[in-house]
Amino acid sequence: MNPAIPAWRPMREADLGFVDRLGNSIYPDHVESFAAFAAKFRACPEACLVAEKGGRGAGYCLALPADAGNPPRLDQVRYVPAKPAFIHLHDIALSEAARGHGLVPLAIERLAEVARAKSFAGLSLIAVMGTETMWPRYGFKPAPCDRAVIASFGGGVYMNRPL
Ligand SMILES: CC(C)(COP(=O)(O)OP(=O)(O)OC[C@H]1O[C@@H](n2cnc3c(N)ncnc32)[C@H](O)[C@@H]1OP(=O)(O)O)[C@@H](O)C(=O)NCCC(=O)NCCS
Repeated sequence: MNPAIPAWRPMREADLGFVDRLGNSIYPDHVESFAAFAAKFRACPEACLVAEKGGRGAGYCLALPADAGNPPRLDQVRYVPAKPAFIHLHDIALSEAARGHGLVPLAIERLAEVARAKSFAGLSLIAVMGTETMWPRYGFKPAPCDRAVIASFGGGVYMNRPL
């Protein structure tokens, strides 16, 4: 593996400080607490990834099981889905150095594997910061969602895709 090319690896508990720092620097308008990041990781570590480039953290993907149309709110610490049916991509964030290397489709592939192993219906996410134009290329389509969840992000588009 060429360390100059960013690649995903499984996220570990020790990565949470990095995730907190990167997340809050990329999303100054979507602030989340360390506890909220940690709770999402602990809900489904196998659906969480860290991108490394040159031996350093360069991005992350945080995902967890969620109800259809009712995923966790921004900064929600305790989230217990009643009938989990989707692996919900809560957040994927890459530093500038890791962008443009095809890490998004690789993360989606991994999340689809996790969803398949759980016999879930598919993947979901809330597109923020204009990314609703990007997600359709990976098969995501807008779907109904609890309004309070969307409001917690200050707006966004809930989308899902079948496996
Ligand atoms: C969104 C993000 C994960 C995409 O990763 P990436 O490696 O930069 O994606 P790519 O460079 O492979 O881009 C793929 C395509 O999506 C488009 N795209 C990238 N970021 C976009 C954005 N924020 N909004 C709309 N389209 C976007 C690119 O223009 C590219 O289109 P093209 O192939 O026609 O040129 C990354 O830019 C990022 O971390 N952004 C900040 C955090 C964020 O917005 N996360 C998603 C929240 S739902």
